[in-house]
Amino acid sequence: MEVMEAIRTRFSSRGFADREVEPEKIRLIMEAGRLAPTGSNEQMNKHIVVTDKALIHQMVAACKDQEWIHTAPAILVEVGANDRTMVCGHSVRLTDGVIAMSYMTLEAVSLGLQFVWLGWFEPEKVRSLLNIPDDYMVVAVAPFGYAAKEGSPAPKKSAEEVIVYNRME
Ligand SMILES: Cc1cc2nc3c(=O)[nH]c(=O)nc-3n(C[C@H](O)[C@H](O)[C@H](O)COP(=O)(O)O)c2cc1C
Repeated sequence: MEVMEAIRTRFSSRGFADREVEPEKIRLIMEAGRLAPTGSNEQMNKHIVVTDKALIHQMVAACKDQEWIHTAPAILVEVGANDRTMVCGHSVRLTDGVIAMSYMTLEAVSLGLQFVWLGWFEPEKVRSLLNIPDDYMVVAVAPFGYAAKEGSPAPKKSAEEVIVYNRME
């Protein structure tokens, strides 16, 4: 699948089919994360794949009781260690993690899967559940798997509304 096709067919699936994700697909998704750029090539992030059913059930409570999460056969938890603030004022580990997640999401879509990015999670609950050391920030949580039903991309603003050439008005 072309990258642009993966971008066009991605959608947030809040419900997954009762079907495991093949280990080879998980490997390819993780490979996309491994090869993503990181600030100064420090590669201080880890891509945690949760497939244990008991842990997945416990993740629901760590994610503000979003009940549909328990249908996911896998959850990606992106974490990064030794954070620092870049000259631009942003967290390098947050940025590394977000880029890696985007790469992994698109690889997953190209393999017929869907991800949902979660902002509704409590980092300290995720940390204690997955034994994540204190020097790692929890960047994001994303359940993934085969979508339970066909979905369609959410409406997006037009190109004119979001693209700026040269200076903003
Ligand atoms: C930073 C971020 C946080 C999000 N948090 C949640 C969440 O906690 N729960 C949820 O169901 N969806 C969450 N979403 C999914 C968005 O609601 C979804 O991406 C948006 O509605 C656009 O739909 P689309 O992903 O199908 O294009 C999040 C997405 C992003 C990018």
